[in-house]
Amino acid sequence: MGRAAELLLTLDRTGGRSLRAQLEAGLREAIRSGRLAPGDRLPSSRTMGADLGLSRGVVQECYEQLTAEGYLVARTGSGTTVSEAAWGSGTPTTVATAAGGTNGPPTMIADFPAGVPDLASAPRRDWAWAVQDVCRTAPNAAFDYGDPLGVPELRETLAAYLRRVRAVDATADQVLVCNGMAQGLSLVLQAVRPGVVACEDPGAIATARAASASSGSAVVAVPVDDLGLDVAALARTPARAVVVTPAHQWPTGVVMAPERRHALLTWAHDRDAVVLEDDYDAEFRYDREPIGTLQGLAPDRVVALGTVSKSLAPALRLGWAVLPRRLVDAVAAAKDTADRGTAAVDQLALARLIGSGRYDRHLRRVRAQYARRRTALVEALATHAPEVDVSGLAAGFHAVASLPEGTDVDVVVARARDRGVGLYSIGLNRSDRSPDPPMLVFGYGNTTVREIQVGIAAVADLLRPVG
Ligand SMILES: Cc1ncc(COP(=O)(O)O)c(C=O)c1O
Repeated sequence: MGRAAELLLTLDRTGGRSLRAQLEAGLREAIRSGRLAPGDRLPSSRTMGADLGLSRGVVQECYEQLTAEGYLVARTGSGTTVSEAAWGSGTPTTVATAAGGTNGPPTMIADFPAGVPDLASAPRRDWAWAVQDVCRTAPNAAFDYGDPLGVPELRETLAAYLRRVRAVDATADQVLVCNGMAQGLSLVLQAVRPGVVACEDPGAIATARAASASSGSAVVAVPVDDLGLDVAALARTPARAVVVTPAHQWPTGVVMAPERRHALLTWAHDRDAVVLEDDYDAEFRYDREPIGTLQGLAPDRVVALGTVSKSLAPALRLGWAVLPRRLVDAVAAAKDTADRGTAAVDQLALARLIGSGRYDRHLRRVRAQYARRRTALVEALATHAPEVDVSGLAAGFHAVASLPEGTDVDVVVARARDRGVGLYSIGLNRSDRSPDPPMLVFGYGNTTVREIQVGIAAVADLLRPVG
């Protein structure tokens, strides 16, 4: 690492904030965001000071502070480098900032957004290894346009993997590789053109609406109860496609009961409809044996949609759809029109990651991490707000907290934000955006144990019964 300019560090000399504080904050941010990676060497305090117009002593103090915090390591003779612990589970974590306040954005002490995996655990090294391996070994033909359905190596790997871990009934020729679940959903709906698409309520309603729009279809919301989707209510709609999350309902966490699964497949058969099974966080189960996919029970009726957005990182934009054979050509045509196929180097890298066992190793590591965070959330709520009922904990990295009757959940969310804690109402996932019954969806994937403990303690009084 050469000079301060390469780190994009700038200091504001007009405001009241000390230059040392700015330098510290800038370096922390560079490490958290990955611009400075473990092992990167920082400029000497003399060079950094000269670049930024600071005394060498100020830079030294700043390096000492960040060394004490664990971001940096100082070694005699080799200068100051970014600590290895500053990546992965030991990362001093990013706490997002919220807008507002009079002196700039207040610092969030804890944020609980649902659906975000631990970004500090994104498998940077494994991904870099896989991409490098592909670039070193793939034949020239791998860099040509390819089959819009995906590269054969990944389609084979995914079919075998999903057969093994998700009891999916698939061969490679049924697998589409796409840019995440959202694209898979949209392409299948373009191929099927069902006219009306049903989705779970609460559920991923905004995603279903966006995907349906591209096929000219309308969306109807169908209620979910504690057995999963209400199939009798579904049958009263004119839908010819339905988006479901049977293994871990999004966001309630309910597992679809066997009788509902059976009824859903009967409905699909009788209606000549397609079931879009969103298997979004299947990799992370804690209490139960894995729940097999619906697709495995009816491969001619069900599309299994998967993604690496939870298992690796959303930014990779990689997912798949396992298709009934009769839909393969139409979906391939839609994918060809959309983008001619997902980036082949990324596809090959994912195949290498899975094939080498690194994908499973990564999952084992992060699963243990999420289990610790889940325990921390349950314990913090039990200690500080025992009246709150927590559910949906069997899988994934979010839970649902039912608040005492009469709680105004929107007020709770607003007050918590004033205290620097990001809470999210389940109303965001309801078709009518209703805040009642009052529930919060607690995502804990990207929230450290410490943040969970401090964050829950800071808002516990808001979660207790009023009066
Ligand atoms: C229910 C559900 N399924 C799937 C996904 C992942 O979508 P994608 O693979 O397009 O990132 C999300 C993202 O948050 C989600 O909430």
